[in-house]
Amino acid sequence: MTHARPETATPSDASRTAVQKTVLMCRPAHFDVTYRINPWMDPDQPTSTDLAVAQWQTLVDAYDRLGFEVHQIEPVEGLNDMVYAANGGLTLDGKAYGALFTYEQRVPEGPAYMRWFAEQGFEVHEPKHINEGEGDFLLSNGTILAGHGFRTSLESHDEVRGIFDREVVSLRLVDPAFYHLDTAMAILDETSIAYLPSAFDDASRAELERRYPDAILVDEADASVLGLNSFGDGRTMVIAERAEGFARQLAERGYETIGLDLSELLRGGGGIKCCTLELRR
Ligand code: ARG
Repeated sequence: MTHARPETATPSDASRTAVQKTVLMCRPAHFDVTYRINPWMDPDQPTSTDLAVAQWQTLVDAYDRLGFEVHQIEPVEGLNDMVYAANGGLTLDGKAYGALFTYEQRVPEGPAYMRWFAEQGFEVHEPKHINEGEGDFLLSNGTILAGHGFRTSLESHDEVRGIFDREVVSLRLVDPAFYHLDTAMAILDETSIAYLPSAFDDASRAELERRYPDAILVDEADASVLGLNSFGDGRTMVIAERAEGFARQLAERGYETIGLDLSELLRGGGGIKCCTLELRR
């Protein structure tokens, strides 16, 4: 499959190569905000499921243009937040570590995603400890960066270490607006990341500075439109279009960007990456 150059992309850096990605997504057919489990959610504000679906479709289209293999899991009625597929688990080396959600409203998503992983031939590991999948586990150059503090438990980091036999680096999140690691950090390629420094405690920030001296540091304004909640293939990053500063920072480093408006899904406290679960066989 060729990689079509999207019209909205900035000039490319020929040295960056795209990695073919395979992802799992869930159409927001039952999207609604009827409870509040993060500061972004306000059940008193009306939401439009149709608009959420239309905006979500622009993300599917962007991934299609990038040549990604997009799988879809059937949305389940009553599970408002199932669109945030990143929370459905962590897949790596053909294994899938299931999610065990913090809040009861999302608990049934865990088994739904685990069933899908099993049907697809993944070796499924049922979680013993609270964790919200790729929302808090990001893979960087073979190392698993793991968030905790709001949702995913520290105990689950040990569980992940045991299952995948990888280095797991625990990072403590301290700002309730950035309650999942993928709201405070973006993986750009094998070796590069971008993050919001103030979202982490001092020790975690020091660890990130040591490991990633060249990281892109994103400011509050861009983080506050969930600009960091982005996903790409090492060459092109799909990001929130309102994160203009982040888009410039990416362009300076030679990444292409595709800007999207997922404002309706932001009402649930999620963006591009939240809607994306990477499948790694
Ligand atoms: N309303 C959902 C929750 O609070 C949003 C999840 C966002 N997902 C993510 N990967 N950050 O659980």
